[in-house]
Amino acid sequence: MFKNIKPFIVMDILKKASAFEDAIHLEIGEPDLAPSSKVLKAINSALEKGYFGYTEAKGLRALREAIATHYKYFYNVDVSPERIIVTTGSSGGFSLVFGLLEGKKVALQDPGYPCYENIAYAFDKSVVKIPVCEDTNFQITKEHLKNIDFDLLLISSVSNPTGVVYDESNLKDIVEFCRKNNKVFVCDEIYHGLVYDKSIKTALSFDDNVFVVNSFSKFFCMPGFRIGWIIAPQKYVEDIERLSQNMFISAPILSQYAAVEAFDYNYLNFVVDTFRQRRDFLYNELKNIFDIPAKPEGAFYIWANVSKYGMKSKEFCDFIFEKTKVAITPGIDFGTNKTDDFVRFSFAKDISQLKEAVVRIKNML
Ligand SMILES: Cc1ncc(COP(=O)(O)O)c(C=O)c1O
Repeated sequence: MFKNIKPFIVMDILKKASAFEDAIHLEIGEPDLAPSSKVLKAINSALEKGYFGYTEAKGLRALREAIATHYKYFYNVDVSPERIIVTTGSSGGFSLVFGLLEGKKVALQDPGYPCYENIAYAFDKSVVKIPVCEDTNFQITKEHLKNIDFDLLLISSVSNPTGVVYDESNLKDIVEFCRKNNKVFVCDEIYHGLVYDKSIKTALSFDDNVFVVNSFSKFFCMPGFRIGWIIAPQKYVEDIERLSQNMFISAPILSQYAAVEAFDYNYLNFVVDTFRQRRDFLYNELKNIFDIPAKPEGAFYIWANVSKYGMKSKEFCDFIFEKTKVAITPGIDFGTNKTDDFVRFSFAKDISQLKEAVVRIKNML
């Protein structure tokens, strides 16, 4: 199965582009904003207090309580801290969920976040790809699910690379389908908070027996802290805890102390407003140059069809980089379903850089 694991192309592009001082990095999906100053104070204070050890595998009680309080405040959903497991980013969370899955078949959307597939292979799972297109606004629906054989379904809402937020009624139908048919359902909610035009519900609003995976990497602007969380159905909590003890011992302690202070909603409002302005600017500019089938409703990506320029995705990205030093990610990083026609722009950069990127691309095209 390891031979199936493909490189994460965006990381290769980042490496190549980093050699050029004048490069504009619209390839990478990582916020450029700092976390709240409260987070920075908390990590300094933890350092001064000499907190250098492990924590219990599920994570600091104070952090799990802070996460539970966030669910009440943000979604009006009650979650017991007992069901929360702090992880090394959501990436650590997927490893734990796949690691305890008894079944073999993982269903994923195509295009979708590429690491899901590769982590699944690392745990000797097989992957069932569900092609999603404009007809369902790039969402899996229960109609897709009726026609495939799978044990676990993992979706991301908000989705990477399309920025699509699953419609509430569709998400509810999917959750119900999985419950009725005894399938494990996992919702990656890492981009929650970064939603621009509508409100969003956690999958936990519809059913307690789903897995929610989340992280401090995006909305909370803490990608390098490597800290995230899982909310697991009660019946899996003990198993996850045991697996987590063995695989990770614990998430980094300094990051855990820092994350306790991350729910600083004044600052987080500033973060979402900043990204909304960037989305508005870049979308309005790029829609005149490319065909953009889904206006991004969240996250910080634009999924643009470049086929009218007569090049395939990688060729187009190489061409744009060579001529303009604007780095973007080829669609083929996200699957095989028409992905050669697409590229992904990330707007996790200051608006002045987005403006400069647009000028360079327009001049060149
Ligand atoms: C949809 C999605 N899920 C998960 C991750 C992994 O994030 P982390 O491990 O930093 O939480 C990313 C990173 O880009 C992502 O886009």
